[in-house]
Amino acid sequence: MTKMLHTPEGVRDIYNDELIRKEDISSSMMSVMRNAGYEKIQTPTFEFFDIFGNDVGTTPSKDLYKFFDKEGNTLVLRPDITPSIARAASKYFDVTDGCIKLCYEGNVYINNKSLQGRLKESTQLGAELIGNTGLEGDAEIVSMAIDCMLKAGFDDFKISIGHAAIFNGLMEAFGFSPFEREEIADLINNKNTFGLMEYLDHAGVSEDNKKLFTMVSGFYSSPDEADDIRDIVKDYPVISEALDHLKALNELLKKKGKDGYVNYELSLISPYKYYTGILFYGYTYDVGEPVVKGGRYDKLLGYFGKDACAVGYAVSVDILSMAKKSQELSDAPQKDDRYLTVALGKGRLAKKAMEYFEQIGIFAEEMKEKDTRKLIFVNEEKKMRFFLAKSPDVPTYVEYGAADIGIVGEDTILEEGRNIYEVLDLGFGACRMCVCGPPEAAGYLKHQELIRVATKYPRIAKNYFNNRKGQTVEIIKLNGSIELAPIVGLSEVIVDIVETGSTLRENGLTVLEEVAPLSARMVVNQVSMKMENERITQIINDLKGVVEARK
Ligand code: PRP
Repeated sequence: MTKMLHTPEGVRDIYNDELIRKEDISSSMMSVMRNAGYEKIQTPTFEFFDIFGNDVGTTPSKDLYKFFDKEGNTLVLRPDITPSIARAASKYFDVTDGCIKLCYEGNVYINNKSLQGRLKESTQLGAELIGNTGLEGDAEIVSMAIDCMLKAGFDDFKISIGHAAIFNGLMEAFGFSPFEREEIADLINNKNTFGLMEYLDHAGVSEDNKKLFTMVSGFYSSPDEADDIRDIVKDYPVISEALDHLKALNELLKKKGKDGYVNYELSLISPYKYYTGILFYGYTYDVGEPVVKGGRYDKLLGYFGKDACAVGYAVSVDILSMAKKSQELSDAPQKDDRYLTVALGKGRLAKKAMEYFEQIGIFAEEMKEKDTRKLIFVNEEKKMRFFLAKSPDVPTYVEYGAADIGIVGEDTILEEGRNIYEVLDLGFGACRMCVCGPPEAAGYLKHQELIRVATKYPRIAKNYFNNRKGQTVEIIKLNGSIELAPIVGLSEVIVDIVETGSTLRENGLTVLEEVAPLSARMVVNQVSMKMENERITQIINDLKGVVEARK
């Protein structure tokens, strides 16, 4: 037998029906853009590193495919096409009179982590409107993105619109450093309001100003309903102007009959730092991540030598193609027939979570049958499904959208580091993540000695020692009974969960440092939060009521 040579992970051959489906989406979208007067442009697959460098603010350098030419220049396989278009447009086109309209299709390359089920090569298709087009330009681009989705056969989708000046304005107003901005952006992106409040407390932000952050980070819906927020942000002109802009944009979209496809999310923050104005993400069912990404970037062409404003979007054709396939296969495509799926971390947590769900009138009786081998438990009346999964798998199911909602411990959320919304602290399952060991190990921590740390939570341990303590340690991953490690001499200390403290006491160990308080959390998939906003918000609010009542 000969060795089989297959493609590397993350790249693939596409043929037959799959290719036809993908090309159908591309050609229908391309026809929308061509009919709107957008000219096609092709840029090279690889470019100089500087086109995608840190100053441009695109994909992080560690996720780029980099290589050298014979002259020693660093080259990059493009992770995104917008910076290439900005570079080309600033060289070839004159935008002093009027604007230029360009559209493109091409493959992009991102060196994702392994085993994430993410493509490393995928097709992007998009449009860029360059020139001083202001609000009308924003409306034209958002509206064209909607037309593209409709023409490609999608009618159940949402475009969430935000404004880059809202987050940036807040950060400037409070003088946060670039490092703090990143941390706050992570908390807001994950809708982790309690994490955000804790962070702002540490940063000395007043109660009133914390309200401003909560309002901004929690707001969905339409700018017409933003009156409370308007009052709070009146002392921040940059943010007020951004709100006015969104309101005016909504008026224009109404005139174009497109407002039904959009909602507003003030806290939207793009990892691409080149956006200066509106930002938007498009979502549809059956894929756990955005299928359209766009926004205004008025400074990017300036980086390549020409001062010109621009706005555009890119569509992920491969992800849309997957969505199309599963929407076609789905036997419940109607929105009202769709089940909300909840993943519960197996064990005590699941039992307690079901108690909470029962208190808000959502039951899954079959789950209580002792010897059941069933994996999914359905509540037909409420159109909800529950399943039990190993805790570390819950964030994975939620990130990919296989579950809309998850109930899982904060320890697992921190360890898995998934892209999910952490929307509610359920309060139960309270315990602490701690550094523990024999009392004499305290000195090793004080004097920053090189020590071995055994843990089931290598990511949390690494983050704690590297980023919070600045201590070099060797981390050893174990799968259970972690307390054994210092007793038998495998490590000096452990990072583990402490609940009652009895396991430590009975084994002559003690808490040396606290890493983080933990409890059960409700997490939500980012697409579900947009597509099923009403139902999910209702559940969050009802559960919040139970949590408050039990305090
Ligand atoms: C957890 C944790 C500690 C113990 C702490 O272990 O890893 O070992 O509970 O609880 P306590 O403070 O109340 O004694 P778990 O029982 O989940 O099993 P594991 O040791 O196999 O991880």
